[in-house]
Amino acid sequence: MIVTSNIQIQKTTRSRVHEVDFSKLEFGKLSTDHMFIAEYRNGEWQDARIVPFSNLSLSPFALGLHYGQTIFEGMKAFRMADGQISIFRPEKNFERFNLSARRMCMAEVPKDLFIDALHQFVALEHEWVPKAEGSSLYLRPFMFATEARLGVKAADEYYFMIVASPVGPYYSQPVKVKVETEYVRAAEGGTGHAKCGGNYGASLYPAMLAKKAGFDQVLWTDAKTHTHIEESGTMNVMFRFGDVVVTPTLSSSILDGVTRDSILTLAEDMGFGVEERDVTVAELEQRLQNGSCKEAFGAGTAAVIAPIESINIQGESYRLNIQPDALMFQLKKRLNDIRLGYTEDVYGWNYIVQP
Ligand SMILES: Cc1ncc(COP(=O)(O)O)c(C=O)c1O
Repeated sequence: MIVTSNIQIQKTTRSRVHEVDFSKLEFGKLSTDHMFIAEYRNGEWQDARIVPFSNLSLSPFALGLHYGQTIFEGMKAFRMADGQISIFRPEKNFERFNLSARRMCMAEVPKDLFIDALHQFVALEHEWVPKAEGSSLYLRPFMFATEARLGVKAADEYYFMIVASPVGPYYSQPVKVKVETEYVRAAEGGTGHAKCGGNYGASLYPAMLAKKAGFDQVLWTDAKTHTHIEESGTMNVMFRFGDVVVTPTLSSSILDGVTRDSILTLAEDMGFGVEERDVTVAELEQRLQNGSCKEAFGAGTAAVIAPIESINIQGESYRLNIQPDALMFQLKKRLNDIRLGYTEDVYGWNYIVQP
């Protein structure tokens, strides 16, 4: 990757990294020493810099605080078996970031700036990339409108930032999900395919109700008829019907997950059938009843694979038998082996960072 952007670096005089107990990390609690920030003004990105992590100073008129022009990404940097650091598929996150920006009428970020900012930021924070296998440094690029104006409009000024948090091994417990048929995360033509803050705000209330009813997550259905499966919480959903990996086709109401794409590629290359197609609630229920739905799982950056142990459809719970040699665990292992360098990265997914 060619380094072209001009990023000023102001290092902290007092790193906190040696005070951290890396064996007790809670997701998203602890920031690293620095943050990246670039400002969009007068039609261009400027003042790109990495500075010590600190609070921001914003006008209470900042448009992003009022009208929801805020987007984000989530990805991870890993310590590979040979000690090198790699970021997993950052170009996919870059493409999705600008897709989100376009949908939310925000300034796009040039590829050089996005990738170079990530590279320099992770290189500077290299000591924060945990060494224990399964741990990683979670990276959070985000952008929001800073222009100070009341009145609904697309802003002319933005901050593009990157912050990071070390995360421990994510041993995902099997989850219980409920097929949601009352509330909606995203409608066709809406913003479901964009990673914008509003999608997550809208999902909190139904998720809270589902939790109260004893479920870990909801399985979202289409907004119009609630008869087609879409995705789950912060993950894409996949099923093993017979020996075929099946996942709903992407649409304007489903996020194009990087993990989803990676898992589908691996499943195909490992010789399994793969189908991206419509999955109706009726088909899923029938397959749960007749036993041809062998596995169900969420796919996303946080957990990689979250096994689903039960699916509730209109009050009826169907249990899934989770076997240690399940296909989903084989896929997870293959993905992790590539990320950590145990298996050759024939796809070019690992972006190596030189400290
Ligand atoms: C709504 C939603 N769907 C799917 C995903 C999975 O995407 P990825 O695999 O890129 O993390 C996420 C997480 O980013 C998400 O928030």
